Amino acid sequence: MTSRRKGRGAICILSGMDLEGKRVLVTGASRGIGAALAEEFAHAGARLALVARESERLRDLAGRLDASSYAADLADPDQVHGLIGRVEADGAPVDVLVNNAGVETAGDFVEQRWADIESLYRLNLLTPAELCHQVLPGMLARRSGHLVNMSSLAGVTAFPGITAYSSSKAGLTHFTAALRADLRGRPVKTTVVELGPVGTDLLDRAKSYRPVDDSFARAYQLHVLTELDAEVVAREIVDAVRRNRRHVRLPKRAGLAASVAEAPRRATEWLLTGVDHQSQP
Ligand SMILES: NC(=O)c1ccc[n+]([C@@H]2O[C@H](COP(=O)([O-])OP(=O)(O)OC[C@H]3O[C@@H](n4cnc5c(N)ncnc54)[C@H](OP(=O)(O)O)[C@@H]3O)[C@@H](O)[C@H]2O)c1
Repeated sequence: MTSRRKGRGAICILSGMDLEGKRVLVTGASRGIGAALAEEFAHAGARLALVARESERLRDLAGRLDASSYAADLADPDQVHGLIGRVEADGAPVDVLVNNAGVETAGDFVEQRWADIESLYRLNLLTPAELCHQVLPGMLARRSGHLVNMSSLAGVTAFPGITAYSSSKAGLTHFTAALRADLRGRPVKTTVVELGPVGTDLLDRAKSYRPVDDSFARAYQLHVLTELDAEVVAREIVDAVRRNRRHVRLPKRAGLAASVAEAPRRATEWLLTGVDHQSQP
């Protein structure tokens, strides 16, 4: 797909990305959706940089995919500062950043330890924002790049027991939309991924808290939600980068909620058509 849009007098080609030989950084790549994403990007010919906390699983996957691995606790700001610089210093520049690492701390908000809540917001929201901030100058200078932020349909719904998680994902979805407005007319693309339940460790942990399990059971019963496979999700995300799609919403039947929540952002985008999105020199 190719379209043209005016921005600071320049014409920007909004085509997707051929992933052959591109360097893709996936956070939270040791298991779950991140590991499936690593496999799928490798299958598309990308060179991978995989990030998670130190583990044999991360090293094994990197070995199998001929990827580089970087052990980092992304809830620790000291390990996040300069991460993109470290990755780019011993390989090629990052063409695609996938902010996938995330954590879920299901439970009664009042009973949870503040330290755990704070760490969740850091990992799920502040770290993705910081990594975008670190990687963008290089992408803009090279006039190419794609940012993928792994959000959740929990960001537009309000199930009990996942207060911190859902608000962190609402923040990430809105961050990506606002950043997209900032980047309008410039050659870096964004995709926000809003998923329902996917069969991974994260989902098992969430469902170990009874109110979450009961709420999901009700949603399954009403056919509003279905449980997704990580491999299917990964294929959709890689396809979205290839074709420059701004959203991945799965399962499709639940995507309507995210489209409704998106309406004011779309309306603003339409309203601001023709307004310069960057300051003039
Ligand atoms: N599963 C779902 O139902 C679902 C639904 C919607 C959205 N999502 C989102 O999809 C993303 C992936 O979730 P998942 O289901 O694949 O989860 P998962 O199976 O629990 O995997 C989480 C990944 O994040 C990494 N990670 C966790 N804490 C980290 C830390 N402090 N520093 C660095 N890496 C860390 C883990 O690696 P290590 O533990 O090895 O460090 C692991 O690779 C998350 O952002 C999640 O919110 C999931």
